Amino acid sequence: MKKIKIGLLGFGTVGQGVWKILNSNMDEIISKCGYEIEIKKILVKDINKKRCVDVPKEILTTNSDDIFYDEEIKIIVELIGGAHPAKEYIIKAAECKKHIVTANKLVVASFADEIFKAVNENNVMIYYEASVGGGIPIIKGINESLTANKIKEITGIVNGTTNYILTKMTDEGLEFEEALKQAQNLGYAEADPTSDVEGFDAVYKLAIMASLSFNTSVDINSIYREGIGRIKAVDIEYAKRFGYVIKLLAIAKEEDNLELRVHPAMVEKNHPIANVGDSFNAIFIKGNAVGDLLLCGRGAGDLPTGSAVVSDIISIIRNNFDVPYNFNYEVNSSKMPIKQSKE
Ligand code: NDP
Ligand code: HSE
Repeated sequence: MKKIKIGLLGFGTVGQGVWKILNSNMDEIISKCGYEIEIKKILVKDINKKRCVDVPKEILTTNSDDIFYDEEIKIIVELIGGAHPAKEYIIKAAECKKHIVTANKLVVASFADEIFKAVNENNVMIYYEASVGGGIPIIKGINESLTANKIKEITGIVNGTTNYILTKMTDEGLEFEEALKQAQNLGYAEADPTSDVEGFDAVYKLAIMASLSFNTSVDINSIYREGIGRIKAVDIEYAKRFGYVIKLLAIAKEEDNLELRVHPAMVEKNHPIANVGDSFNAIFIKGNAVGDLLLCGRGAGDLPTGSAVVSDIISIIRNNFDVPYNFNYEVNSSKMPIKQSKE
């Protein structure tokens, strides 16, 4: 079997999700791209830290050069989070002629110009589906499936942690702090949860979606931002009494200007977005040809995010290595017996 070797930078919630998916779904992955994917090295801060998966110690390293200068590694997956050194690592990966996958919305939203310059100059690809909406295929949706449209509006719940907190406060009367603690334990929150709670994370995601949708380069500092830090149980109770729920929304609308904002909003309880609970995200898109679309799914967590990351790795393999265009159809089309009765 042909093999592609990859290196991971970071082995936290998402890195371990990628590990689990590669271990459990390899047959499926091979059937989609014709290559086995092997994680050759993983960069971490602490080699001795206890992990949720059984990883051979010799794969772990604290020296990034073990990954950048390994000729066999063709794709680098950045999952350390934060601005630095993640940005520098992404640029260095490009300079070392490695393709890149990242889940890092902060870096994509803040340093897009530098990153895309490095990627273009070095003739490699970068994919970042997991940076917005966790497992929801929103980047490929906007960037591939909806390119025939003029996008008029994007409105969504794009932060799983705050949606989890608001849902728990609304449905179970949990205190803010307790709900946040649960979201952290479930691996939804950023290393510094201020980014989630104060709406920064949603701003990065909105900047990425808006840049792609409205053919512009959105400066994150131009987006109005208000988080959920000041929402109290009494606000939630009042909203409920009048038939509303409170959601943290990210909104991009093109009218005369491009309007971009992130803030808590009262959503009527019968609205489809009102019932999107837990760590789910929901993104509503209005295109001038397709009309209204609603994409909904798990916006955070190891496997949903790992799903987007591994799919990006497969996309890179399909686009850069020797894979026939209709590979999965040609190879797999007649394998599965089909049941033709109703029972
Ligand atoms: P974690 O904090 O769980 O994991 C970070 C990993 O990176 C750890 O393994 C850590 O090492 C390693 N690391 C951090 N800094 C360094 C450094 N300077 N050098 C070497 N290793 C380093 O993060 P997540 O997995 O939750 O998130 C990763 C990225 O994915 C972030 O950009 C996040 O925004 C994004 N994301 C996260 C989602 C989620 O649900 N968690 C969903 C979508 C995107 P060690 O383990 O030794 O401490
Ligand atoms: N902290 C982020 C969230 C992770 O809660 O949505 C997914 O991007």
